[in-house]
Amino acid sequence: MKPIGKVLCATGLLVGFLAYYWQDPFDPESLVGARVLLTGASAGIGEQMAYHYARFGAELVLTARREAVLQKVMEKCLTLGAKKVFLIPADMSSPSEPERVVEFAVQKLGGLDYLVLNHIGANRFQMWAGDVEFTRWLMQVNFFSYVALATAALPTLEKSNGSLVVVSSLAGKIATPFTTSYSATKFALDGFFSSLRHELMMQKKNVSVTLCILGLIDTESAMESTRGKVHIPASPASEAALAIISGGATRVQQVFYPWKLKQVYYLWVLAPSNEVLQSYYNYSSP
Ligand SMILES: NC(=O)c1ccc[n+]([C@@H]2O[C@H](COP(=O)([O-])OP(=O)(O)OC[C@H]3O[C@@H](n4cnc5c(N)ncnc54)[C@H](OP(=O)(O)O)[C@@H]3O)[C@@H](O)[C@H]2O)c1
Repeated sequence: MKPIGKVLCATGLLVGFLAYYWQDPFDPESLVGARVLLTGASAGIGEQMAYHYARFGAELVLTARREAVLQKVMEKCLTLGAKKVFLIPADMSSPSEPERVVEFAVQKLGGLDYLVLNHIGANRFQMWAGDVEFTRWLMQVNFFSYVALATAALPTLEKSNGSLVVVSSLAGKIATPFTTSYSATKFALDGFFSSLRHELMMQKKNVSVTLCILGLIDTESAMESTRGKVHIPASPASEAALAIISGGATRVQQVFYPWKLKQVYYLWVLAPSNEVLQSYYNYSSP
């Protein structure tokens, strides 16, 4: 073979190998008829996840506090192709709600394949001002309710070899300014659910745990709370939603979105610099 032929042949083999290696293992068909309980489904990333799941033909139970808004999301999900959609308004600051929501979902869908934990209480993107009570409340909404929802759903997820999908943030991996309480709730999620993943594996229980680490996403609430305070580009909520769903369906342990966030995180682990990190945040002392 001539040298040019050898080069073309090697290039072809390399392209073939890379295409095989990087092919997306996510098969949307796997979600047809999947039974999904989705929290924080009335707005932002949760709303976008509801629409993706609906297009993929999943059966859904949607929850958040605002019934009228959930009703609209439910109607759109039905037009997009969801097989079944139910809604249950619930406030996750109330410790009794998680169990009630899971019971409702299991009763309506006959079990669960996915529990997608996504809701958050309204965040204050500001310097710590000493509000301990707010932190306690946020811990209940962003952390304890996740633990209670997962605990109530585990028996049915074990039966279905199902999946727990937990939506977190880069602020749950790297402490960032203006996020004291929020960051604490997200670090707590990593600790709890990563430990739970080990225990499920050790007990040979086939329930996957996917932790989703997101950067800034262009939801209304995030854009409003960070306006003028950060120099960080926001990524689209619909893409973030798809990344979460795909990570859950392929049962990976961690999803980073946007994808470059993984490099950012490992760079921080290898060479942390407070100056560089703080340069992304606006602060002028009073
Ligand atoms: N957007 C970002 O930049 C970003 C970045 C990193 C990580 N994340 C993570 O992505 C997830 C979704 O964020 P998002 O920006 O889409 O949030 P969002 O737009 O503010 O939506 C929050 C959802 O939670 C519900 N919710 C609020 N308080 C609740 C309560 N007490 N009980 C039950 N539900 C409640 C809201 O509905 P109701 O008001 O109807 O209750 C809404 O459906 C969160 O876990 C967040 O930490 C977001």
